[in-house]
Amino acid sequence: MSNFITIKKKIKKFDKTISVSGDKSLSIRWVLISSIANGVSSAKNLLMSEDVLAAIKIIKKLGIKVSYNKFLCKVYGKGVDGYKYKNNLILNAENSGTLGRLILGLIINSPYAIKLIGDESLSKRDFKRITEPLSKFGVEFKFKKKNGLPVTVKGTKNLNPINYLENRGSAQCKSSIMFAGIRTFGKTIIKAKKSRNHTELLFKYLKLPIKIKSKNKYDLIEIKKVENIKPLNYIIPSDISSAAFFIVLTALTKNSKITIKGVNINPSRVGVITILKKMGINIIYKNKKKYKGEQIADICVTSSRKISSINCPIKLNSGAIDEFLIIFLVAAKANGISYFKNLSELNKKESPRLKWASKILNLMGVKTILTSSSIKIFGNPELDIRKKIVIKNFLKDHRVFMMSVIAALSLGGNWIIHDKDSINTSFPSFLNILNNIKK
Ligand code: S3P
Repeated sequence: MSNFITIKKKIKKFDKTISVSGDKSLSIRWVLISSIANGVSSAKNLLMSEDVLAAIKIIKKLGIKVSYNKFLCKVYGKGVDGYKYKNNLILNAENSGTLGRLILGLIINSPYAIKLIGDESLSKRDFKRITEPLSKFGVEFKFKKKNGLPVTVKGTKNLNPINYLENRGSAQCKSSIMFAGIRTFGKTIIKAKKSRNHTELLFKYLKLPIKIKSKNKYDLIEIKKVENIKPLNYIIPSDISSAAFFIVLTALTKNSKITIKGVNINPSRVGVITILKKMGINIIYKNKKKYKGEQIADICVTSSRKISSINCPIKLNSGAIDEFLIIFLVAAKANGISYFKNLSELNKKESPRLKWASKILNLMGVKTILTSSSIKIFGNPELDIRKKIVIKNFLKDHRVFMMSVIAALSLGGNWIIHDKDSINTSFPSFLNILNNIKK
């Protein structure tokens, strides 16, 4: 089967109600926490993508039983000390930075060496950012290459609590240290720059010994050793990172409307909504409710006649970190020059996304000024692409693929976009949902 898609026509106006799949961050966290709970946890609407299946494969390798079908997943947790560590175990986090970093925090008590590997993209990513603080607990790490996978972990039963300053706004690093903290006697104290707080909310909901003091830019988190975790039955809310593609498709398509049901609107994740509203996109929430610490709503969007440029405040960066590619498309159609800064982290994702975004915008005929941490986008409200554009060799980054598809459908041009399979890491139903919108 061909692994590329061709798009030659813009999408016609639509008025639809859709659902997108379960939140990836929450799905991975649910699998991992359930694996150390005492008893059977079950989840509905778990994201059945390659990243989450990789998490399931990893906990199975650690001796935890899992059963699942399309509708329900059950994890048979054996308690905080229930992993069956073996000599020469190899765990594969595939494409997932979240899985790779979080699992390291959970296996720091392994008496045997464990090797963590990943795919080509993950092996290029920085793991020192997490092995450095984790080694302070008393764990040993050995890298083959400089900072990337594979890495070998040799844990210990004599873990020391640590004080950790998380200064990048990385929820993966923060969460990994939180997982390590629940394995360690004494108080682990984390001062973390604000980032998505799903792990904190799950720990609180499960009544684990966690204290959080919220400051202006940082959170102070205190964690102690945990003896017992009750099973967690959960209906995973839908992923705002997946919803974002359809929000932008609607905003950029004339006379169109969409409702996206049951999306997680956790305040630490809605940077994309705040930014797009500032740019003049019509977005409202309906049926807001709380669910186990998270917040959920239907997101309603109508197409925008006038889009304003933005000088994006850096305090919105962390809450929109996975959505910038799609936000940049809106900037391409805005009236004026948009400026996004302090975004060096974007080049450390599944592919160097800031560079890729600039490249794609240039291919679309949009002028950009790119530095290693910022981009200026010269918007054009009349933008109507008429040329041939080929997108390939982007390290199979799912979000580069989906951004390109949305650009083609909303802004025109004759596109060939390679590595269609990349969507399987985070949003396997992306193209099916699009086909339903087109009908
Ligand atoms: C995630 C955190 C973010 C985000 C990633 C998911 C998480 O990464 O980009 O897609 O689930 O904790 P960083 O922690 O590296 O910012």
